Amino acid sequence: MASNAEMAAAWDGPEGDHWADNAGRYEATSERFRSALLGALDLRDDSGVVDIGCGTGAATREAARIAAKGAVLGVDLSRQMLEVARARAAADGLDHVRFERADAQVHPFDRAAFDVAISCFGAMFFADPVAALANIRRSLRPGASLALLAWRDLARNEWVDAVRTALAAGRSLPVPPPGSPGPFSMADRHITTSWLTEAGYRDLDLSSVDEPLWFGRDADDAYSFVSTFGVTRGLIADLDDAARTDALDQLHQTLKDHETPDGVTLAGSAWLITANNPEEAR
Ligand SMILES: C[S@@+](CC[C@H](N)C(=O)[O-])C[C@H]1O[C@@H](n2cnc3c(N)ncnc32)[C@H](O)[C@@H]1O
Repeated sequence: MASNAEMAAAWDGPEGDHWADNAGRYEATSERFRSALLGALDLRDDSGVVDIGCGTGAATREAARIAAKGAVLGVDLSRQMLEVARARAAADGLDHVRFERADAQVHPFDRAAFDVAISCFGAMFFADPVAALANIRRSLRPGASLALLAWRDLARNEWVDAVRTALAAGRSLPVPPPGSPGPFSMADRHITTSWLTEAGYRDLDLSSVDEPLWFGRDADDAYSFVSTFGVTRGLIADLDDAARTDALDQLHQTLKDHETPDGVTLAGSAWLITANNPEEAR
């Protein structure tokens, strides 16, 4: 687990706790993106599927409903999220789904075991993306496909950008450098293309999925969720009490400004990245 120790500490720690405790919320937030991912797959009812960074398993369960006679594996670093994933899959009667705690970068997957690898925002955190993507590729049969969702740049993702702006409190906040592990690591098309190519994939395609993210019924409801995000806690941690109160008021106002008849929504933009393991791959 040493290769992604920092991410494991977060996801198997406080960040994972937050996602596990708010599983329904997080799964609702990204629902439209997940539909785009599932819609891009050519799943059969007997497909073998691996879901990388499956979290609480929303995409895993959706894939398992299509691959009803196949075998579906979800892997993740977070014990607490996997516990929720197992409970939710069992509640849905999906007994052909397994979940395993694993670092996808180094996990000794069975070779050539799967027809499809998917990831819904779970493949952006690798310390060594080329090694991780190559490790995932070796778990795929020759000719099998990969489909990932990963966020495009911060400026296109109002759901992070507006929260950061609200909480900036006069500070100039650093923008994560492209390629560094985190939500925006795959935002740069050229970097991501070079990683996938180096990892041995072919027939690469990156297409933009632009959808709103849903955060709550109204501003109060959304605030109860967004004000507890890891990113929110991080941004207010160094502020004094008065500045923290102002920043959180500003966050509430931002959410109020985004109230719609369907609830509080903020714009998001992701790459839907598809690629194949070459037929001649070993
Ligand atoms: C943004 S969450 C997405 C979770 C889930 N796919 C979803 O759509 O709700 C990212 C997930 O990737 C997992 N993750 C990060 N690095 C990983 C790694 N090296 N191996 C396996 N999972 C990883 C985290 O534990 C976390 O559950």
